[in-house]
Amino acid sequence: MKKLKVMLVFGTRPEAIKMAPLILELKKRAAEFETVVTVTAQHREMLDQVLAVFEITPDYDLDVMQPNQTITTITTNVMNRLEEVIQAEKPDIILVHGDTTTTFAASLAAFYNKTAIGHVEAGLRTWNKYSPYPEEMNRQLTDVLSDLYFAPTLQSKENLLQENHPVDQVYVTGNTAIDALKQTVAQDYQHDILEKVDFSKKVILVTMHRRENQGKPMEQVFKAMKDVVNKHPDTEIIYPVHLSPTVQKLAHAAFDGIERVHLIAPLDVVDFHNLAARCHFIMSDSGGVQEEAPSLGKPVLVLRDTTERPEGIAAGTLKLVGTEYENVKQEMTVLLEDETQYQQMAQAKNPYGDGQASRRILDAIAYHFGQLADRPQDFS
Ligand code: UD1
Ligand code: UDP
Repeated sequence: MKKLKVMLVFGTRPEAIKMAPLILELKKRAAEFETVVTVTAQHREMLDQVLAVFEITPDYDLDVMQPNQTITTITTNVMNRLEEVIQAEKPDIILVHGDTTTTFAASLAAFYNKTAIGHVEAGLRTWNKYSPYPEEMNRQLTDVLSDLYFAPTLQSKENLLQENHPVDQVYVTGNTAIDALKQTVAQDYQHDILEKVDFSKKVILVTMHRRENQGKPMEQVFKAMKDVVNKHPDTEIIYPVHLSPTVQKLAHAAFDGIERVHLIAPLDVVDFHNLAARCHFIMSDSGGVQEEAPSLGKPVLVLRDTTERPEGIAAGTLKLVGTEYENVKQEMTVLLEDETQYQQMAQAKNPYGDGQASRRILDAIAYHFGQLADRPQDFS
């Protein structure tokens, strides 16, 4: 049987974390698949951290990142540089992930070169064009162009069907984030970063980076955090700050010199997952963190007005708190002072996967190309 040539294209930290389990699975199934890894390097250092952890050496590196890059420059550079690779490799299918500008630009380049597209983490929606921005339109546009849809949950499948995508091309696979988490979190994990943290205090882990939160929303959230931490001597904030210069500037302006707020460099994914597993609660506007926290039983105050991850809200682990000063302050106070409410959110539930998403995705590809007799069963 001819091997199927699968090219993965990704460029940012979260795409790399969620594509890594697929690459490892592809390598295990080398008799069935030939793998080509192309990174756009929309992120440089934060991508390389993930590649190092999972020992992935890309076949192609488009090296597009520029300081303070715009969505337009990322798009044009990815499209210009990717076309040559697609034409040289002629893959049977290109896999893209999620909703970044790399995702959309790579999908458009694949379409222009008449190459099949598989969208990993398809079907997430807020139905709000500008929230999150530009991710909502990146994923909708990617889904318009895709041939195979790997929806992480039944809800995301339903979103796709609502847009009339063909049901036989939609597979419910679970999220590969859970495949990754199964490899990173360990009870006996030890590392300098964990030894430096005072876990006798209530440790709040923070990430915040979204474009639509840069400016006033971040300023309000950071002020609320500062005021709550000052009022609660038993708390510590640990905030690995995204390398975006805008985020760096806002975070340091707000927190430099503030006792018990620790701004640190982005953690590699193993350290971050193990810290998340040991903290008291999380505050974040990240997408991936919302998928990971329910498995870890860690409450998340979601620093956004909308979420495309309603399953975590239904599970009770996530609470959408927005970015207004008063509300953020109040919700932090509830989690610190009301043990009953804290415990209600801290139940470990995992609506996002069973660690088998990568296997299902590869089975679906093999089935689609006629190399596997049976359609893989959906994750439920
Ligand atoms: C991007 C994605 C967003 C995703 C996020 C994950 C788009 C438009 N946005 O946003 O969906 O949630 O990644 O983190 O696709 N930088 C570095 N080193 C790095 C990474 C970034 O220096 O390793 C700096 C660069 O100056 C870069 C800036 O951060 O210009 C912003 O990066 P960019 O990818 O444009 O936006 P993100 O906010 O990271
Ligand atoms: N993460 C990490 N190190 C950090 C902060 C986050 O490895 O210092 C991981 C986190 O576990 C999750 C992913 O990065 O898997 C989320 O990435 P990010 O917040 O950059 O993007 P988003 O998910 O919002 O697109």
